[in-house]
Amino acid sequence: MNATPLPGIEDEHGFTPRPEYKKKSIRSFVIRAGRMTPAQRSAFERQWAQYGLSLFSGPLDADAAFGRSAPLVLEVGFGMGDSLLAMAKAEPDKNFIGIEVHPPGVGRLLNNAADAGITNLRVYMADANDVLSDCIAEESLARFQLYFPDPWHKKKHQKRRIVQPAFAQMVRTKLTPGGVFHLATDWEHYADHMMEVMSNAEGFSNQAGEYLFAERPDYRPITKFEKRGERLGHGVWDLLFEKHA
Ligand SMILES: C[S@@+](CC[C@H](N)C(=O)[O-])C[C@H]1O[C@@H](n2cnc3c(N)ncnc32)[C@H](O)[C@@H]1O
Repeated sequence: MNATPLPGIEDEHGFTPRPEYKKKSIRSFVIRAGRMTPAQRSAFERQWAQYGLSLFSGPLDADAAFGRSAPLVLEVGFGMGDSLLAMAKAEPDKNFIGIEVHPPGVGRLLNNAADAGITNLRVYMADANDVLSDCIAEESLARFQLYFPDPWHKKKHQKRRIVQPAFAQMVRTKLTPGGVFHLATDWEHYADHMMEVMSNAEGFSNQAGEYLFAERPDYRPITKFEKRGERLGHGVWDLLFEKHA
């Protein structure tokens, strides 16, 4: 029923998953070698037909992909996928799309979603910038989630940070009026950069008040590394920016 091709190549190990992306000079990620467990690898062959979406399939018909119409939540860079899975479980009335380039994380999420019998989740293993520009319809997202994006601390790498004025405007076109862009980070400098970019982004209001960080909303689960950070006295900053109606 779903003809989405498997993203990857056949090599001496059998099938090796590879993220989809278009060539560009600056990327917000490096493809990490990251070892895959046999279960993560085989998840693609077993679960991709149910959960996978391809960048190269072009504009997404979300209602057709999910077999129903429901508010759509999109998360960029879900890592190992545990918090996205918890949210999809906790909000069965919403449809969730995750985008991630790290194959072991995608494999893990595919397996865990299948084990939990989740039906309101679909996944791209691709560069989010490409998926946003080629696949996601304008004014289609109720919420856009970006949690703990790579901070790129070195000054010379900061152009790789995904949060930039042009990215904010891309997110704005994809949100429904009143839709929310939710960002979180545990790097104070990146938090300040996010606040600067978002406070100056046309068409958004800060739900917490001008230049204020937000309380973590209940729907965002605390991750393991965030718990550890809290014990060590590290901060976490949430930002909630609503698109003007
Ligand atoms: C620091 S990790 C955080 C992962 C997860 N959100 C968490 O809180 O554990 C950032 C993730 O974003 C992914 N990423 C970065 N740029 C991306 C892009 N353009 N498209 C898709 N994924 C991206 C990376 O592969 C990485 O897994």
